[in-house]
Amino acid sequence: MPPSKSSLINLKNLSVKTVGSLFSKTLELKKNFNQYQRSAGVYHSGYKGTAALLFLEPSTRTRFSFEAACSRAGYHPLILDGIAGTSLEKGETIEDTIFNIEAMRPLFFVIRSDDQFDMQQMVEKISVPIINAGWGKRGHPTQALLDAVTIFEKRGDLAKQNILFIGDIKHSRVVSSHIELAATTGSPLAFCAPENFLPEQITSGVKVFRKLEEALDWATVIMALRVQKERHGVDAWFSVEDYRKNFGINLDRVQKLNPDSLLMHPGPINYGVEIESEILTDPRCVILKQVENGVFLREALIRNLFDGDL
Ligand code: NCD
Repeated sequence: MPPSKSSLINLKNLSVKTVGSLFSKTLELKKNFNQYQRSAGVYHSGYKGTAALLFLEPSTRTRFSFEAACSRAGYHPLILDGIAGTSLEKGETIEDTIFNIEAMRPLFFVIRSDDQFDMQQMVEKISVPIINAGWGKRGHPTQALLDAVTIFEKRGDLAKQNILFIGDIKHSRVVSSHIELAATTGSPLAFCAPENFLPEQITSGVKVFRKLEEALDWATVIMALRVQKERHGVDAWFSVEDYRKNFGINLDRVQKLNPDSLLMHPGPINYGVEIESEILTDPRCVILKQVENGVFLREALIRNLFDGDL
């Protein structure tokens, strides 16, 4: 299989059929997993080879999720977790690191990196496919897919869901991937954020709300985003107090939502900033469902890309 065909760097040009089959497979794996658990059976795919997971930026959910998905799909994950203790600390480049790991014959790479590294170009330089596990601000395709499958599972047709992103949209790779995915699913998207958290260019068709109350009235799916201080420049203004007052999701705001709406967050959460912990027990809050579905989605994707299975 040529790498460009089985790599996943972004969600551009995905067909409705591909997304549909990926979601069906994800939900089928979930159903089977639950059945295996109930009958104390063994969920086992047999060993197919190794997968190289390179996490050059911090991660908990995505790294664990890919490790679990690889194992469940039969690919043993080999993990480079941060640059500490690796030759990257001695000045070796990421590219050289990848060439050396490629020589050890993994069947595919899963890579998280900052914007400086050119993941797209790397795909052309090696013969092993790459799955993007978060690339700077450019994209986080499997996060958008796992969010979308969770919405689909709970609410059905994505084209009928108004998805609202609240907060640090400017620095969010999750939003970048959702914009690409919406071209396939047809979901209407909107932003609500302080001026300095909005991107310079708003993608055509995306609504912008100034007032949170109006945005919440419009939305059927509410996706709060982490304030990503690590990506802010020195001049970025940010007052927790103002943010919490104007954009924070609290019980009072949640109680006014439609009973059918969904409350989501890609994690990790800054409690007391974008979300108050009191909302976690609300039945509309599906944050941990996103995490649960993430493993099934990634397993389905790996099986699709590398086993031709859907
Ligand atoms: C996101 C990420 O790393 O892009 N989290 C995740 O992968 N679940 C969002 C974030 O860091 O805020």
